[in-house]
Formats: sequence, C-alpha cells, structure tokens
Amino acid sequence: MSAMLNTATRPNWLRKSVIKSLIAYQQTQQSGAELIEDEVGFFLYDLDYLAQHLSGLMQQDVIKLWFAVKANPLSRVISTLAQQGFNFDVASQGELSQVLAQKVSADRILNTGPAKSKQQMKAFLTQGVNTFVVESLNQLQWLNEAASELSCQPQVLLRVQLQWAEGEKNPLGGNEVTAFGLSCQEWQTIKVTDFPALNINGLHIFQWGNMLSNERMFELWSQMVTPLLSLAEQLEMTLEVLDLGGGLGVDYLQTGQNLSWEQIVADLAKIKKRAGVSELWLELGRFAVAEMGYYVTSVVDRKQNFEQQQLVLAGGINHLIRPAITEQPFPVAMVRESTASPSAFDLHGPLCTSLDKLGTLAIANDVGIDDQLIFGLAGAYGFTESMPFFLCHPIAAEYVIEQGKIEQIRVAQPATWYLR
Ligand SMILES: Cc1ncc(COP(=O)(O)O)c(C=O)c1O
Repeated sequence: MSAMLNTATRPNWLRKSVIKSLIAYQQTQQSGAELIEDEVGFFLYDLDYLAQHLSGLMQQDVIKLWFAVKANPLSRVISTLAQQGFNFDVASQGELSQVLAQKVSADRILNTGPAKSKQQMKAFLTQGVNTFVVESLNQLQWLNEAASELSCQPQVLLRVQLQWAEGEKNPLGGNEVTAFGLSCQEWQTIKVTDFPALNINGLHIFQWGNMLSNERMFELWSQMVTPLLSLAEQLEMTLEVLDLGGGLGVDYLQTGQNLSWEQIVADLAKIKKRAGVSELWLELGRFAVAEMGYYVTSVVDRKQNFEQQQLVLAGGINHLIRPAITEQPFPVAMVRESTASPSAFDLHGPLCTSLDKLGTLAIANDVGIDDQLIFGLAGAYGFTESMPFFLCHPIAAEYVIEQGKIEQIRVAQPATWYLR
C-alpha cells in the first residue's frame, strides 16, 4: 500500500472512514518498500462497517440468516459473521474446514452444492454437520446410506428448480436448466418414507442473481409458493422450512436502485405465512459482505487506441474476475484527489486475453501512470472467485480494518510461491 490519499468528495460507496484508516496505515508503515515488493493489488475489508451492517440484518425475527461462505471465506470475515449470529452455508470441504477453524459449531453449518459425493457427505456428517440441501436423487440415496451407517438423522431440504415463462439471464442460471437441484417432476418420483435415516422437512429454491427490485423479488418468491406447496403435498412431507437462497442484489452499476431490507423482511413475513412454514431461511452472499470490501491496484500504462482511452492496470481479472463473467463492473474511483473532469476509460488488466477488462468507467481525466484506483463493492466474489495463476503475476494481498486500524491478513505472494 503506497498511495497518497486525502478525504475530498468521494462516491457513496467509498466510506470516509476507510480513506482515513488507509492514511493512518500508510503513515505508520515502516520500510514499506520491502514489505510490498510483490503487492500489485490488494483487498481491504472494513469489518467495522460489516459488523454494523450485519447487526442491522439480524434485527428481525422472520428470517434465519446463513452466510454463503463462497462469497468471502476470509477467516476474519467469517468470525465477524459468527459474532453477529449468522449461520454458515458451505459448499466444499475447504469451506467447512475454514468455518470450523473459526470455532463455529457444526450445528450452525449447512451443506449445499450439486457435486456432493457419498464420501463427502459422510465426511461432513462425521464432522458434525447435520443439515443438507440435497440436489439429486443420488445425493438423497447416498446421504440416507451414510446417515444409517453413522446412526444419525440429518435434516434435509430438497433443492427445487422451477421454470417460468419470463426468463432472465444471470450466472446462476435464472431460467436455464442448471445442475442446481431438480425439477418438481423428478422429486415427485421419490417417497420420503424410503429414506428413514433422513428428516426431510424442507425445500430449497434459488435460481436468481443480483435482484435490485423489492417488487420483482417479492413477485418471484410469491410465484414459488404454489408449486413448492403442491410438491410438499404430493410427497406427503411436513414442510417446516423454506430456504430461498440468496440473490439479493447490490448496485454494481450505480443505478441508484437498492433493495430495502425492511421491505424484504415484511415481504418474507407474508411468504412465510402463505407457505405455512415455521422457519424461513436465506443464505446471503453479496448482500451480507459486498459493501464492506474494496480492491486497490495501480495504473501501469495509459494510451489512446482508436476511439478508446485505455488504462492498463497492474491487477485485473487475475484478482477480480467477476466483471468479466457478469458484465457488471465494480464502481471505481482514483485514490488521490482530483478536480479534473471525468472521462470514460477502458480498464484492462495484465493478462493476455481480451476478457481481462474490469469495465469502461468514468475516472478523473488527469489519471496517470502509478495512480492507484480503488474499486468498491468488492467484498463478495473477489479474491477466491478470480483466476490468480494465469501469467504468473503476484497473488493479491488482503487487509482488514477493525476499530479503525488496518491489519494485513494475507501478504501478497510472487508466482514462485505456487510454481513447481
Ligand atoms: C446455494 C447458494 N446460496 C446462496 C448463494 C449466495 O448468493 P448471493 O451472493 O446472491 O446472496 C449462492 C451463490 O451462488 C448459492 O449458490
């Protein structure tokens, strides 16, 4: 970290306290050159903001909240969520080990994911996980076998995939047929009594990504109730739990549209009543952690190419791939103050693929070589979702801010760290 910062007018997503902490950190950094040799990009997570935000989400008794660990598995992020009372949705042994390592008890963990083998589910049961979202007939059979071998009775939610006439494309699939769960027709072929080692008492459904409209979200949730209730009836299962996954959006494109949490709680209270369930669950990813995170990298080159103004950055999709797969760039600002008027720049990373682009975004037009850029809403689907190995650039560093102080959690690493 080496930028000169100040606290001039900033976009809303760039909190003043974050800039202040960065300045303070910079001033106390000693012999920085050595420490940051391999640092070409870093993530910064504002845990003070995170704790406050999560505490707001927990002020209700309608929804049981889980954190989708895939959004950000950093140890300190997980412990902040645990302290605020969140439970954890893990999708791999790696995520499970990481959550358990933060001293979270296994009864606060559930397991989702389409690639669960019998071996994995048995290992999870052995480690104390007792809640599973089952996504195929094989998974159901294997979990039943594993549970009877271990003489336990895990709670099971069947993951349902629905189709609507009106589709919307997003990385989770939206209306496409995906590997996440099964259609009602497939689930109807089972008899819950054939799985005596399982307590099948819930349904899970989640197909949509980054919703920004309360009305649209409520409409989608409402449409789910009837087919889910009739499936439960056909299966003669007691529907106690309805898990509606994630999908609550954040405003990556800075449209000014934002979900109201108060409205979500009110809407879900209605859904819960209509579905007649005693528990309604959400597994939040981005809505829980996106806003607390930033990614910072610097400008290596600036050029005019045909009609485009281009900035080539030290870090790109090797650290932050999400814009390339969603076409939703993270909002950006220059770290130093500038009164120059903004221009649109294509922001390219260092990889040899045209995919390596973090967006076309407005930046003060005096931006130049070595200026640092800070991207917002980067607390979810950042470090672990990216492609850090291609072209052997350094791995990003990770820092947190807690009680106003910056602390390095992960030092940047050169490619020699992983090359064999
Ligand atoms: C099963 C499941 N639940 C929750 C989430 C979190 O989604 P979001 O980030 O939209 O909240 C995901 C994300 O892929 C998921 O796969």
